[in-house]
Amino acid sequence: MGIRIKGTGRCIPERILTNADLEKMVDTSDEWITSRTGIKERHLAAPGETTSDMAAAAAKQALELAGMTADMLDLIIVSTVTPDMMFPNTATIVQKKIGAKPCVCFDIEAACSGLLYGLNTAYGMMASPLKYQRALIIGAEKLSAITDWSDRSTCVLFGDAAAAVILENDNDPSTPDFYADGFVCADGNLGDVLLMPAGGSVLPASHETVENHQHFIKMGGPKTFQLAVHSMVDACRILLEREAVPREKIRWVIPHQANWRIISAVASRLGMEEKVYQNVERYGNTSSASIGICLDELNRSGQLQSGDCVLAVSFGAGLTWSALLIRW
Ligand code: ACO
Repeated sequence: MGIRIKGTGRCIPERILTNADLEKMVDTSDEWITSRTGIKERHLAAPGETTSDMAAAAAKQALELAGMTADMLDLIIVSTVTPDMMFPNTATIVQKKIGAKPCVCFDIEAACSGLLYGLNTAYGMMASPLKYQRALIIGAEKLSAITDWSDRSTCVLFGDAAAAVILENDNDPSTPDFYADGFVCADGNLGDVLLMPAGGSVLPASHETVENHQHFIKMGGPKTFQLAVHSMVDACRILLEREAVPREKIRWVIPHQANWRIISAVASRLGMEEKVYQNVERYGNTSSASIGICLDELNRSGQLQSGDCVLAVSFGAGLTWSALLIRW
């Protein structure tokens, strides 16, 4: 069919919050954060900088690399748990900001698995009789807006950022698709492990919800840790076995960048430690942006060659999890 990744981009906000800065805000230490998570610093959006601002900046970079203009897009998907507002969807706001023509725009909410959910969905729509030609898939998060800065168990973990991927169908049957295989799953029975309780229709915003800090991320850390390792290893094994890909054929494994201990546990269970790309020490957990940032760093630094096999894998609130085997 010829559906290829034509461009990648990222937006990392300028402001850096280091572990030393956090030591002044809550009862924590650089030693605790580094040894438990591997994170040294994270970037935070400026007060007026929105999720769609970061998404649009990442999209513009990706379009430039693809040699395309925004009016060539016929599909825009934004993955986020921090949309600019409940509605309209953030994809339409990005559409306006980048100057795209009227086209299909929607958001995906699959937390940290969102970019992979988005790539799987976009590929399905492009490969179907719907025949979308050029798609923009973005993972964008302003997690600082839903982080409880007085809760040391969560505020040390997250950062803000956006990353974008452009797909194009060149309609050449001899061009192999970027999509070698994908796996997408969720289990709502595990939803209470990681959530933001208020702000939806169950608990609309009220003085009480604000006083009770219910508009912030709540997480069962150790339980999330276990589920993350188990689900990511499982998803990778399914794809590796289904496609009969020998481990030596994989050039990079890109796990969701939540925590270095989770990443290394996944890598060692797969026996692929030396193939893992990680940057969690610089950005923290940027949810649906994290895998896109890794892809863009690898792409722009020339560490991806045509034909390389990349295994990306993620997990997030829901619980959602997903893996994607990419032919670069
Ligand atoms: N600084 C110092 N001490 C802390 C901090 C902190 N920032 N946070 C917690 N502690 C304390 C706890 O209070 C606890 O103290 P206690 O023993 O006196 O009660 C102690 O440290 C140990 O706490 P644990 O929660 O057992 O620590 P653990 O080793 O499990 O590490 C962590 C915590 C880092 C959160 C880990 O569980 C983890 O990474 N979990 C996964 C988190 C994750 O990936 N979340 C993202 C999900 S993706 C998405 O969809 C957004």
